[in-house]
Amino acid sequence: MSSKFPDHFLWGGAVAANQVEGAYQTDGKGLSTSDLQPQGIFGAVTPRVDGDSGIKDVAIDFYHRYPQDIALFAEMGFKCLRTSIAWTRIFPQGDEETPNEAGLAFYDRLFDEMAKYGIQPLITLSHYEMPYGLAKKYGGWGNRKTIGFFERYARTVFERYKHKVKHWLTFNEINMSLHAPFTGVGLPEGSSKSEIYQAIHHQLVASAKAVKACHEIVPEGKIGNMLLGGILYPLSCRPEDLLETQRQNRDWLFFGDVQARGGYPAYMKRYFRENGIQVEITAEDQQALRETIDFISFSYYMSGCVTTDETQNETARANILNMVPNPHLASSEWGWQIDPIGLRYLLNVLYDRYQKPLFIVENGLGAKDRIEADGSINDDYRINYLNDHLVQVAEAIDDGVEVMGYTSWGPIDLVSASKAEMSKRYGFIYVDRDDEGNGSLERRRKKSFYWYRDVIQSNGNSLKDQG
Ligand code: BG6
Repeated sequence: MSSKFPDHFLWGGAVAANQVEGAYQTDGKGLSTSDLQPQGIFGAVTPRVDGDSGIKDVAIDFYHRYPQDIALFAEMGFKCLRTSIAWTRIFPQGDEETPNEAGLAFYDRLFDEMAKYGIQPLITLSHYEMPYGLAKKYGGWGNRKTIGFFERYARTVFERYKHKVKHWLTFNEINMSLHAPFTGVGLPEGSSKSEIYQAIHHQLVASAKAVKACHEIVPEGKIGNMLLGGILYPLSCRPEDLLETQRQNRDWLFFGDVQARGGYPAYMKRYFRENGIQVEITAEDQQALRETIDFISFSYYMSGCVTTDETQNETARANILNMVPNPHLASSEWGWQIDPIGLRYLLNVLYDRYQKPLFIVENGLGAKDRIEADGSINDDYRINYLNDHLVQVAEAIDDGVEVMGYTSWGPIDLVSASKAEMSKRYGFIYVDRDDEGNGSLERRRKKSFYWYRDVIQSNGNSLKDQG
């Protein structure tokens, strides 16, 4: 296959502060909502007890080991690394007037290290966490005041890093708030739909304000949103199934519609009315929402199906969105259905809808790895998964879709988001740590490390067409 990837394609990997950094109280960092979820993003909110440590407290100790890790990413030829800034390193409680200098200095060091190797940062402002202080004192995103606190944080980091970071994202998988409200918007379990959509509205306004601030402050800066690209197919060709699939796809496309088109889509009015959802949207909010993103970014792991047949109530095992399984697809060990063609389809859907450049900022296979007697890790399953998805990215590029880059999820093993496990590994680099927190944290190259290095070096030419 000859390379279809553009010359300046941003190849790389993606991680998130709360899943790699550890050092959860170091250098003045405050507690984040993630620090109160030791069991993962769907887990109960657990008060911290002194000395009680969840796996994320140390994670993979990226806070101290980043120079070694960046060197390994550089060895694979990364052009880009996506990570997030922990808001609580900059504003520990969220409502301070002035930022925490030690926190700002950490990210200066990190970005400088990346610059040594010509690796461009792609920075998420909020990846599944916010200051717990804001959730506790103000009710998280349920409170309008949080918009102002977020804007102050965004402006602070844009000013500080404007010469080091040119690519930004606002909220990770912003549509997940519908499924994990504490993680997404700092609301307690059992919040009503009106409360959740009001909080989401505040977050969408804050996102638009951050977009405006980025455009004002960062010379040549580009800022995108971040969607969980959970594309759904009808299980049958019954018209009712098709219509229901469109409705459920709009549940998540709604976020992209607001962020890319600058206002609420028409279909939401009926949805709110029929579900008794009340959301306060002021004229000033509507004005703020007009500032739209420069590109669309999204994660893609799997697709799913929708049916109106009530006798068909099986949902894919451990599938975070409770999608109906597709009988034509195989699943990962965690029950996530593997669908490379779905990625090509999704890229086309998003490009048709928005006509903005797209950035695949997460994709990968979570799997258990085995270390052989000679110390090697032969993760062919991961290579096959990534190869097949990248082949479909190339097809989409050939379809005419503008794709800026691809950052595979977890280029180094990290703590999984849904269940806070280490054993669900995504990396090209193995980290010696188990689910109980035992292990030396030593790093080790897997077979996929060399495979990805070759893919990047050949700009995708080394990919193998699916059989
Ligand atoms: C996305 C998140 O949902 O999927 C990441 O943005 C997460 O934070 C990734 O880690 C994979 O999910 P998991 O549960 O396997 O870690």
